[in-house]
Amino acid sequence: MVPRHLAIIMDGNGRWAQNHGLNRVRGHQKGAVAVENIIRHAAARGVKILTLFAFSTENWKRPAYEVQALMTLFAGALKKESKSLIENGIRTRVIGDISRFSQSLQKAILSLEEQTANGKVMELNIAANYGGRWDILQASKKMWDKVHAGEIKPEDVNENLLKDFLTVKDDVDLLIRTGGEHRISNFLLYQSSYSEIYVSDKLWPDFGGDDLDAAIDFYAHRERRFGMTSAQIQSKDSSC
Ligand code: FPP
Repeated sequence: MVPRHLAIIMDGNGRWAQNHGLNRVRGHQKGAVAVENIIRHAAARGVKILTLFAFSTENWKRPAYEVQALMTLFAGALKKESKSLIENGIRTRVIGDISRFSQSLQKAILSLEEQTANGKVMELNIAANYGGRWDILQASKKMWDKVHAGEIKPEDVNENLLKDFLTVKDDVDLLIRTGGEHRISNFLLYQSSYSEIYVSDKLWPDFGGDDLDAAIDFYAHRERRFGMTSAQIQSKDSSC
């Protein structure tokens, strides 16, 4: 079984560059090539939602030249990939607080979102200036605004309703982290409550289609119990 919603923490660009005696920025450039490849591969495997962690709310703390290089790379990738995303039916959204980005980058993001809005093959979410805690907070604020406006009754507030206000409402089925670290790093906190987690020791620029296949294969062999017992799951399966 292929995960419907696949989320990836793309880690290891810096170490990849260091291992090759290169500047960290070269690692991010190589990482951007891996992004293109994995988008194509995930769509071909039948993934319906792919969410990639490109830049966290904490990444602003990096050296200014690296932040600037990441912004340039991001803007360049949006431009370079737009044709292929449209042609391949990939509806693309940038999730995160984009108000901190330059006006031209914000314009490029909105234009790409508009141009790809009719894509039906896969939904691609690029998390940029994104944090899981920020997402929960902005969703809570939006929800409570509606409560205060009388559009939602306080007694109707529940876990499912809050999902409607998150940047991505669908639960993550498989969460991949490359680069060997076992951390969620403030990624999709609410949406990853029941995700299967796959950690790859490969550094992101080296993570290719075969590695994604291995992760999907791992997922296919997991028994997802959602708090139930194994016996309950098995009896449910046999009654289907
Ligand atoms: C983590 O590696 C990676 C990032 C902070 C940036 C991710 C960006 C890309 C993959 C390229 C551009 C993305 C798009 C969507 C075009 P790290 O620098 O923390 O690596 P390290 O842990 O080895 O130092």
